Amino acid sequence: MAGDYDLVVVANRLPVDRVEGPDGTPSWRRSPGGLVTALEPVMQREDGAWIGWAGTPGEPPEPFDAEGVHCVGIGLSAEEVEDYYEGFSNGTLWPLYHDVIVAPNYHRRWWEAYVRVNERFAQAAAEQAARGATVWVQDYQLQLVPRMLRRRRPDLRIGFFNHIPFPPFEIFAQLPWRGAILDGLLGADLVGFQRPADASNFLRACRRAMALPARRGVVRLPDEGDRQVRAASFPISIDAVALDELARRPEVQERAQEIRRDLGDPQYVLLGVDRLDYTKGILHRLKSFEELLADGRVQVGEAVLVQVATPSRERVDQYVQLRQDVEVTVGRINGTYAEIGKAAVHYLHHSYGREEMAALFLAADVMLVTSLRDGMNLVAKEYVASRYDEKGVLVLSEFTGAADELGQAVMVNPHDIDGLKDAVIRALHMPAREAGRRMRAMRRRVREHDVQRWAASFLEALDGLGDQAGTAIDL
Ligand code: ADP
Ligand code: F6P
Repeated sequence: MAGDYDLVVVANRLPVDRVEGPDGTPSWRRSPGGLVTALEPVMQREDGAWIGWAGTPGEPPEPFDAEGVHCVGIGLSAEEVEDYYEGFSNGTLWPLYHDVIVAPNYHRRWWEAYVRVNERFAQAAAEQAARGATVWVQDYQLQLVPRMLRRRRPDLRIGFFNHIPFPPFEIFAQLPWRGAILDGLLGADLVGFQRPADASNFLRACRRAMALPARRGVVRLPDEGDRQVRAASFPISIDAVALDELARRPEVQERAQEIRRDLGDPQYVLLGVDRLDYTKGILHRLKSFEELLADGRVQVGEAVLVQVATPSRERVDQYVQLRQDVEVTVGRINGTYAEIGKAAVHYLHHSYGREEMAALFLAADVMLVTSLRDGMNLVAKEYVASRYDEKGVLVLSEFTGAADELGQAVMVNPHDIDGLKDAVIRALHMPAREAGRRMRAMRRRVREHDVQRWAASFLEALDGLGDQAGTAIDL
């Protein structure tokens, strides 16, 4: 049943979005995510295929080629979108893996859909992969795929990368299907995580829940001829050079100046850019800004907060609730502190193109990343990569993967509102020399550890596992 492709990426979403022309003709446009940028050159070189969902319920599109990548769509019924994507992926796993910031829901129907949809992805990957090919499975929506794929195709070399945190065992243990999830992941030869702490949480879960020998980054599987699964961290990154070049373009710089003018030429522009998600600490950020206004430590007109919040998972209850809470809070802050022509907070519930994002980053004196838990947080790295002028200050939550790498940011615990307020004031008043020194160091880090390096190091590690990977016994 082998297919033609030497490298197969399996991700919940395809790398291209369906767009309709003015006459309704559909076409595909490269989706803006970093994963596509990271993998595009490798996929083109290796003759790769990408398996994913097109983002809307119904029949999948016929396989097609776009941006040099062979795309194979997976169809999800409306019920599967509810149960697999909105339900188990984003109502169970997402909150569980993000420190139970909101309570996860455990529903057997959602789990059954998750198993069924993971089987569908695994089957498609098995059909596309050439003999001995490498298959790279992405993220928490597809944790069962490695095992399902190994059962079908023991000749493959299988990697898995988790883009979100892997929780401590004490939290993971809540999951009624914890053993099945671990077994699913252990179908891979290499399981990659954002931070070393995530990899050790996974190893500990294998010991505690599965009674498996798991030490020094390796899990041994006695029932599979002592096959070894390696777990390690590979912090994801961005295309730093591309963002730097974009930010240097005259039209982007002009747009940044125009944004500041349109905001009323305040002395300080503070910026937040997130998916509208409860993990991002948007309410904590708003609360601290509101208190700074109330205390008179910042004045309306002098400082303005721009909060860009991309619509996300809009039918999931906790996201509906968060949107209401954010909108009520923004309304209250502006109602209390704004003056005619001088808003305190600009709240933009939209997605923007890459140019506009770069212009926003350039326009911001202080970037606020206040996640309560975040696998990496690419926005923090994007801000740094855009600041070719070495200006601007990053306020960064300790609870992001990015905090491991961007130690020169102003670090915050977003739960500590007084600490957050002090950090914002410190960022606003930071001497230019100090800000420049910090920004230079962070830029160096992001340039040297970019997304191309991330993809290459994962694939090299997978490749370097030697003959034991890809020759495991059939189960
Ligand atoms: P997450 O993966 O949880 O959404 P990240 O910060 O790691 O968080 O990645 C978010 C990505 O989405 C970044 O590349 C960021 O630039 C992009 N993004 C966030 N908000 C917007 C927006 N309003 N418009 C366009 N892109 C956005
Ligand atoms: O990184 C976490 C993640 O869920 C990715 O898998 C996904 O591409 C992104 O966030 C956006 O989420 P969604 O695909 O649910 O819109």
